Amino acid sequence: MAQMNENYLKLPGNYLFSEIARRVNEFKNNNPEANIIRLGIGDVTRPLPQAVVEAMKKAVDEMGQPETFRGYGPEQGYDFLLEKIVEHDFTSRGINISQDEVFVSDGAKSDTANFQELFGTGNILAVTDPVYPVYVDSNVMAGRTGFIKENNQFDKIVYLPCTEENGMKPSLPTGKIDMIYLCFPNNPTGMTLTKEELKKWVDYAREHKSIILFDAAYEAFIQEEGVPHSIFEIEGAREVAVEFRSFSKTAGFTGTRCAYTIVPKDVKVFDTKGEAHSLNPLWLRRQTTKFNGVSYPVQAGAAAVFSTEGQQQVKENITYYMENAKIILNGLKNAGYKVFGGTNAPYIWLKTPDNMGSWEFFDKLMHEANVVGTPGAGFGANGEGYFRLTAFGTRKNTEKAVERIITKM
Ligand code: MLT
Repeated sequence: MAQMNENYLKLPGNYLFSEIARRVNEFKNNNPEANIIRLGIGDVTRPLPQAVVEAMKKAVDEMGQPETFRGYGPEQGYDFLLEKIVEHDFTSRGINISQDEVFVSDGAKSDTANFQELFGTGNILAVTDPVYPVYVDSNVMAGRTGFIKENNQFDKIVYLPCTEENGMKPSLPTGKIDMIYLCFPNNPTGMTLTKEELKKWVDYAREHKSIILFDAAYEAFIQEEGVPHSIFEIEGAREVAVEFRSFSKTAGFTGTRCAYTIVPKDVKVFDTKGEAHSLNPLWLRRQTTKFNGVSYPVQAGAAAVFSTEGQQQVKENITYYMENAKIILNGLKNAGYKVFGGTNAPYIWLKTPDNMGSWEFFDKLMHEANVVGTPGAGFGANGEGYFRLTAFGTRKNTEKAVERIITKM
């Protein structure tokens, strides 16, 4: 009789975005005439930049010719892509990252979920609350947590509240934490940290020998000067941080899949004898065993993101989405909603009116305005009473959604 991994029994029934999809499909089946606008899951609507499409087509043609065909690629990613990532994201910003510290993958979701494998199950982890549910659920699956409590928080996870009172910026933990998940610009609140604020986390991690798992998937949406794009802009971060980045939202790769994770060789974990081990070769060992790399046409497309035309086209898409963010932000603000984020991130975090529960608001919005968003409670206990809208819709749908929310809610 095969035994199950009972940690899975600790999880709530469905993954957040699957639960939302289930509710939307059910509503659609019962109301086939409803014209639903989806501003729930952060999925892009603009097509791939033309430079990316052309590079991919060329790569596909190469795969069809015996002289240029490629089989298995390097698990870490092709040099032509690694080089561009290092130059564009780090060297040009004065940050020292080498090519063998970059790992190309099929998504920041899978990397943030898988990376915890390198850590002992006895480690104490901290997450912000609200939080992208993948960090929590993957640690639950691995057995690093206890059961879920009445307040919707898991035993053995330290939750760092992000509330209106603290400007949605988490306070440093009081005790010792081993693994800290941070995501800035933040999903779901859309808020950012300044360099000084982020430095406090790096200093904390250096002092306590903790590791920061920094999700920078939304860095390309930063509009304001002075907001850090990478944790490695902070002195000392190379010793304590791993950074997750993605082409998904930046360049429209949600369906195509390509991301990368930076694992500096200076980041160390310790065995039970207290001996230090670099995380970089451990992640390489993990990836070479469990992953065979991203397909050549997709990496060729990703490399084209860094070309002059690619950069221009990506910028146009980001400007388009950030204009949507402004439309939602201003529209709701003028209608009397309390809104956060949306300035340096594609997410708008709003307070539900009249203290309405966030799932209740979700149902009401879907039924009365035919607009789908994401209930704050799905991101954690402190998300209750809030609601997330994404700026990734089309312009027309974004304008229509705001109008419907104002007139029907
Ligand atoms: C979200 O809506 O939070 C994102 O789409 C999730 C993801 O990128 O996996």
